[in-house]
Amino acid sequence: MTQNLKAYRAALLHSLADPAEVGVDASYEYFADGILLVENGRVVEAGAAEALLPRLKGVEVREYRDALITPGFIDTHIHYPQTGMIAAYGEQLLDWLNTYTFPTERQFADKAHAADVAGIFLKELLRNGTTTALVFGTVHKESVDAFFEAAQALDLRMIAGKVLMDRHAPDYLTDTPESGYADSKALIERWHGKGRLHYAVTPRFAPTSTPEQLELAGKLFGEYPDLYMHTHLSENRKEIEWVKELFPARKGYLDVYDHHGLIGPRAVFAHGVHLCDEECARLGETGSAVAFCPTSNLFLGSGLFDLEKLQRHGVRVGLGTDVGAGTSFSQLQSLNEAYKVMQLQGKKLDPFKSLYLATLGGARSLYLDERIGNFAAGKDADFVVLDYNATPLLSYRMQQARSLEERLFALTILGDDRVVQETFAAGRSVHQRD
Ligand code: GUN
Ligand code: ZN
Repeated sequence: MTQNLKAYRAALLHSLADPAEVGVDASYEYFADGILLVENGRVVEAGAAEALLPRLKGVEVREYRDALITPGFIDTHIHYPQTGMIAAYGEQLLDWLNTYTFPTERQFADKAHAADVAGIFLKELLRNGTTTALVFGTVHKESVDAFFEAAQALDLRMIAGKVLMDRHAPDYLTDTPESGYADSKALIERWHGKGRLHYAVTPRFAPTSTPEQLELAGKLFGEYPDLYMHTHLSENRKEIEWVKELFPARKGYLDVYDHHGLIGPRAVFAHGVHLCDEECARLGETGSAVAFCPTSNLFLGSGLFDLEKLQRHGVRVGLGTDVGAGTSFSQLQSLNEAYKVMQLQGKKLDPFKSLYLATLGGARSLYLDERIGNFAAGKDADFVVLDYNATPLLSYRMQQARSLEERLFALTILGDDRVVQETFAAGRSVHQRD
């Protein structure tokens, strides 16, 4: 056994597959008294303490009482520049953008400001147990340099990109098709594939890009292996009407992106609240992903996400917070709201499906399930320790719980950042609550 080997002992839970595909019971693995073995930033093994301990003579074992270790959470849609404008009152999407978002994003022309906010943002993600996120910058290339520098210092697996936006936004916040392409390309050369960092070509949404800009974005998306494409789609009814007016030759909103090559594996569309069957089928057959952002959809009054419809068409679905339209950095709180979104439609959200959405399902949406999402041997050791006694109410509720399912469900409904006792990224402790 080498000196770098470390063991973490607590209850251990991780997803193995989508409950929708294999049924709930085969979708997870649980060890009531488990050990997660980590070496050089990677998972060596996850198993029962009874079986593993005899082989661990001389290995340091960190033990957590009344705690649950799960993989780090994966946020498939979030805006780091909007950290300081979370909880902005009173508007739906288009007015919210003009009133709050654009003036806030203007400040990111200043790299020092961007670096400050990136630091606050990453700290907040880790406090909430999120170890990987797909992140919007602003139109300024400096915003992405600042973000990646901060993520690199913590050795986090992060995906981000510079916003492309050449119309229907204030002059101070627009680029051109050519400058957007050139700036994105320079950022890709600088950051994509460096350590655990990945780049996403990031047109804000169809209304703020000309067809010329979307065409160049599509070209860029095809120029590098494993690049991401990250945008918004069918979030709000007024937005959808506007897209119809702006692109009368296209069949619908998704077709605007499709027409310009902005679809396929590693294309991630936030929201997709109002998609028709044809659009869902196209997303499914192209291997594209949709980010379900419940707190944002409720906060902006956008609508109720139809998880089952997307699932029927084989679309990869991840969970997003969409801060700052989203109201919490916590994936547990996102799952709380996701459950209510389903209830409002007369549907259920099984707690093990919730676990899957926040971990392995997110990894599959991002085509990163070879690297993260569960405790399979060789994956990045990104994990969280969740405290069953984080609050008096949670602790009392847990005393009444009769099953793992009940405990997990209560964690997703009552839990938030207070539950996250410690967060590890690539085997290093990057957040300690106490
Ligand atoms: N659509 C275009 N831009 C945005 C944004 O910043 N947030 C959300 N939620 N939707 C958008
Ligand atoms: Zn968004």
